[in-house]
Amino acid sequence: MNSAPAETGPEAIQAKPKMAARGVNVFYGDNHAIKDIDLDLYADKVTSLIGPSGCGKSTFLRCLNRMNDTIPICHVTGEILLEDENIYTSGIDVVQLRARVGMVFQKPNPFPKSIYDNVAYGPRIHGLAAHRTDLDEIVTTSLEKAGLWQEVKDRLDSSGTALSGGQQQRLCIARAIAVNPEVILMDEPCSALDPIATAKIEALIDELSGRYAIIIVTHSMQQAARISRKTAFFHLGEMVEYGDTTEIFTSPKEDRTRDYITGRIG
Ligand SMILES: Nc1ncnc2c1ncn2[C@@H]1O[C@H](COP(=O)(O)OP(=O)(O)OP(=O)(O)O)[C@@H](O)[C@H]1O
Ligand SMILES: [Mg+2]
Repeated sequence: MNSAPAETGPEAIQAKPKMAARGVNVFYGDNHAIKDIDLDLYADKVTSLIGPSGCGKSTFLRCLNRMNDTIPICHVTGEILLEDENIYTSGIDVVQLRARVGMVFQKPNPFPKSIYDNVAYGPRIHGLAAHRTDLDEIVTTSLEKAGLWQEVKDRLDSSGTALSGGQQQRLCIARAIAVNPEVILMDEPCSALDPIATAKIEALIDELSGRYAIIIVTHSMQQAARISRKTAFFHLGEMVEYGDTTEIFTSPKEDRTRDYITGRIG
């Protein structure tokens, strides 16, 4: 089964998805990497995407802000709705889209610029600050929300690349937050970090979770269980099962999900 089971219960009646995939397929040349995915993503719930290496988690995540557009052999079919608008219709401004749907990568990738300029970069491009004081305010609040302000407030002019890995990742989160996104995509954001830096990012995700829809790819089932309300399990390009995280980990409906969470596949 590769379509999302219908949600039932009172939550389903109230909640309208922030983003929704409808019949999404992705091809890299002849390689059919993502197969007919339907998935609803909610603004107020962190969603984890899990599954063995190569199952298509990053590929699917990149569909959500059209990052796959940058890969020439990549071809996407189906619809991805943000609110009610298909982001794959022609005429969509992808720069604007990527401000609304921000992304944090596996390896922290700050620009070789000052801490201040890393965070100010997006607001400058999008003309979000009329005056320097407005920009200062955006930089400060973004660093505060990313839990980095106390550590960097006295050295905003130092290079972002000189920070520790965990600090760099929080800087990248501040950079994403600075343009007021509605959705934040994270592709294994902790995989290059030590346990303490990982714990800080997890706490941050928890704090941000009311404000932004967060979709996170993780190889750590413990992490998925700790931070997400919803979990989708992918296998060989299909979405095998999607539901409340506790259910996926305690009583999965599909054999393939059970085999993965018990370590039999993957
Ligand atoms: N840039 C690319 N060009 C060609 N094929 C790609 C590209 N990126 C991914 N693929 C292919 O798409 C499929 C899914 O890969 P993807 O990177 O999405 O998996 P993943 O679940 O994120 O794996 P991992 O857990 O190892 O990061 C694989 O068959 C992979 O080889
Ligand atoms: Mg990946």
